[in-house]
Amino acid sequence: MVYHNIVLIGFMGSGKSTVGKTLARQILKDFVDVDTVIETEQNASITEIFESKGETYFRDLEQKCINQLAQKKGQVIATGGGLPIYGTIPEHSLIVYIDADFDVIMKRLPKHERAKRPLLDDEAKARALFAQRIDTYKDKAHFSVDANQQVHIFIHLIRDFVLDRRVL
Ligand code: S3P
Repeated sequence: MVYHNIVLIGFMGSGKSTVGKTLARQILKDFVDVDTVIETEQNASITEIFESKGETYFRDLEQKCINQLAQKKGQVIATGGGLPIYGTIPEHSLIVYIDADFDVIMKRLPKHERAKRPLLDDEAKARALFAQRIDTYKDKAHFSVDANQQVHIFIHLIRDFVLDRRVL
């Protein structure tokens, strides 16, 4: 199988963007972040889009966005945490799950990053969402990396996995 893009999935705040940027630099690929592309195209933050247009509208935008991004090859694509749950990841994607525990994510995430995510407002609800989603993340991924360890270590593991596969 030849893969066109590397797609990072995982719960909100698990580090998909941070990991994606570093990984892309190391393996000489472009980095794109679905949420950032949407915010730029809509000229609005994710919170504003949720508030003004609603979650369903946002889900539609994120599906269209990744479909559009997948027209190109050779990228590391960071997805929003809901994309693999509500949407479909395009074919020919090498999918990596950033597998961090809920408590680890919460401990690592600064307050201002938490504030950007409407679905993290209520910690008990977010914890329940995490429990609901975890199996889907694991099922959809070609590789789940233990992201409870130091970032530079698990980026290395992802890199080894990816470099063993054919990605254009
Ligand atoms: C969401 C995750 C967010 C963003 C939106 C909804 C989710 O992205 O797309 O707030 O449903 O998990 P991150 O995973 O980058 O936080």
